[in-house]
Amino acid sequence: MEKLQPYFESNKQRFLDELLDLLRIPSVSADPKFKDDVLRTAEYVKAKLLAAGAENVTLEQTKGYPVVYGDKIIDPKLPTVLVYGHYDVQPADPYELWHSPPFEPVIKDGNIYARGSADDKGQMYMHVKAFEMMLKNNSLPCNVKFMIEGEEEVGSENLETYVKANTSKLKSDVVLISDTSIIANDTPSITTGLRGLAYLEVEVTGPNRDLHSGVYGGAVANPINILCDMISSLHDKDRKVNIPGFYDDVQIVSDSERAEMAKAPFSLSEYEKDLDVNEVLGEKGYSTTERVSIRPTLDVNGIWGGYIGQGAKTVLPSKAYAKVSMRLVPNQSSEKITKLFEDHFKSIAPKYVKVKVTNLHGGEAAVTPTDTVAYKAASKAMEKTFGKAPIPQRTGGSIPIVTMFERVLNTKSVLFGFGLDSDSIHSPNEHYGLFNYYKGIETIPYFFQYFTEMSK
Ligand code: BES
Ligand code: MN
Ligand code: MN
Repeated sequence: MEKLQPYFESNKQRFLDELLDLLRIPSVSADPKFKDDVLRTAEYVKAKLLAAGAENVTLEQTKGYPVVYGDKIIDPKLPTVLVYGHYDVQPADPYELWHSPPFEPVIKDGNIYARGSADDKGQMYMHVKAFEMMLKNNSLPCNVKFMIEGEEEVGSENLETYVKANTSKLKSDVVLISDTSIIANDTPSITTGLRGLAYLEVEVTGPNRDLHSGVYGGAVANPINILCDMISSLHDKDRKVNIPGFYDDVQIVSDSERAEMAKAPFSLSEYEKDLDVNEVLGEKGYSTTERVSIRPTLDVNGIWGGYIGQGAKTVLPSKAYAKVSMRLVPNQSSEKITKLFEDHFKSIAPKYVKVKVTNLHGGEAAVTPTDTVAYKAASKAMEKTFGKAPIPQRTGGSIPIVTMFERVLNTKSVLFGFGLDSDSIHSPNEHYGLFNYYKGIETIPYFFQYFTEMSK
């Protein structure tokens, strides 16, 4: 793949410009206001796959946003790589905390600042460009299929139906996904575990209407006060989740495996400094890296109610709300945990409020194997371009479709991400390093080469 170097050098700027154009389209899947933009993004990806030389490029309609499909089958006897990525992004709110507008990408200090730059447009687009390089230089060593979806950030609700209806079309030997991070630019790693997710919204209702907080305050339950009590009771003093049965199915990681994990480089003081916190907080008995990988958690993602406009308004609100997510680990079922939460939350609701719980979305945890040809090829590819073998590492984020691909397609994934945890994904000022973008484009062809060779 050394022979791709001249093509890479002479097209580098265009590779970047095309990504910047992709980042200019605000493909926020969560907000219907951006519907036309999300669809425009799908069209853009489709056009770029076609231009790169993919065949059978189509927008596959679903009940939601389309899946962009494309492939290049050079010989059915050769292995097939299914590249998965997503073209939708998280909402950019709060806009006022961005140093430059989220959908007007700028390059500063070697980083591309824009919503979706790292998650996942920048990482997904590396594959389109790596594919183009291989194809234009007669170096594509095996078959490739692309499946780029537009609903990952809202739970991939319609993807399973699409995959089930297209199992033979999507048949492949490995799913290759770049939507995760490496430890550092000089410390490559491959993600071998993701957490699952259960996401809910709760509504607590007190009186049937907003009340004057002087006339009624003190005599009627304030749903915001009650919601806060209820939420704070969800953790005990050791920061364990206080829901009966929550830990019942948690897969226990052996001491030797924990010792192995602890070898990955990590500095707690740098972590605290980066986040500007004096101390970290988490479940007693586990290290910070364990707390975000092998242990389940519960977090409030948003809480609202009452008056939050300018100045003061003396009101005792009728309703209070919160969005709650629980990150899950292998063996826990997102459906079961959702039910446990719902039952528990209702059981702790005092008589003076009414509680409603709505399930938003969920997905299961995944552990990807390291003893496969695909993992070894990915490891060798990174070793080639980083000059160092990658460290296998579990991470705290979720990509629920990984277990779905295993279940429906019977195909394992390799999590071949090139981002950094410090990229501020889902946050203001999301960015992706030029180093990481180009390193990905350079490394992916080696994966294809090694995977094809090692599959023989
Ligand atoms: N790419 C992320 C997941 C991720 C990020 C994994 C960093 C590992 C490291 C993905 O786009 C994402 O945000 N997933 C959601 C879940 C989804 C169901 C909305 C998440 O983890 O919150
Ligand atoms: Mn992502
Ligand atoms: Mn995301």
